[in-house]
Amino acid sequence: MEYSSITVTPLTPGIGGVISGVDLTQPLSNAQVDDLHKALDDRLVIFFRDQQIDHEDHKRFANYFGGIHIAPSTKPWQVPGHPEVTKMHADGDSKFVAGEDWHTDMSCDEAPPLGSVLYLHTIPPVGGDTIFANMYDAYEALSDRMKAYLEGMTAIHDSRQAFGDITPDGMELPRSSHPVIRTHPSTGRKSLYVNRGFTTKLEGVSRAESDAVLAFLFDHLQHPIYQCRFAWQPHSIAFWDNRCSQHVATWDYFPQVRSGYRIQILGDRPF
Ligand code: OGA
Ligand code: MN
Repeated sequence: MEYSSITVTPLTPGIGGVISGVDLTQPLSNAQVDDLHKALDDRLVIFFRDQQIDHEDHKRFANYFGGIHIAPSTKPWQVPGHPEVTKMHADGDSKFVAGEDWHTDMSCDEAPPLGSVLYLHTIPPVGGDTIFANMYDAYEALSDRMKAYLEGMTAIHDSRQAFGDITPDGMELPRSSHPVIRTHPSTGRKSLYVNRGFTTKLEGVSRAESDAVLAFLFDHLQHPIYQCRFAWQPHSIAFWDNRCSQHVATWDYFPQVRSGYRIQILGDRPF
């Protein structure tokens, strides 16, 4: 992939790219924005180092990729005066952290976010990595027989599965049906779209068959060959494409502090 205005250093052959040559405290040029779109399509998740951004910088960056998605479920963690921004924080009092199971963000919504921009300013001395996985590659590695079986099938994604134990008062608990194989609106590529965090049932088959096939798919898509692992530093940013990747938080740093902010970008209904 050729870029005119940025440098992209792959993290693994299949997924992840560290971007250099941009300053996210300043508006970007059209060439940079075009190159970042290309880098996201090619790498699925892109990373930035040493970007000391404020909430306005964070929003400006997210808006280069779409409108901002304000999930009702994030309300308890919204930053006062900036409802678009969710505080992401863990310390010695935390009972859970976001994303401890493999997931795509809010696949329980009819139109899940296109992607998320996570900025961390405080990180533990060691640990707290985020792992990302390439769902195009997970799809392509399936046998032709399995691809044919899954083609046209839909699955239920239920927020009760993800948030059932930690539902703050008044939080909505959406549930949606989405294709098991989805097509990316920009790259045109097919990817596997079921995740352990939200997907509860393949539709049109028995419970036993659904449980068995989902167990196979969840195991399959967690193979390390599809993954990259990002080691945060203070003021790093990760921006993932939520339509063709999954991720998981590594909460191995309790009771240390890890803290920052996240913005989600509006997405379309998966097809
Ligand atoms: C998220 C998420 C993982 C992490 O913000 O959606 O899953 O490592 N975060 O914080
Ligand atoms: Mn997440």
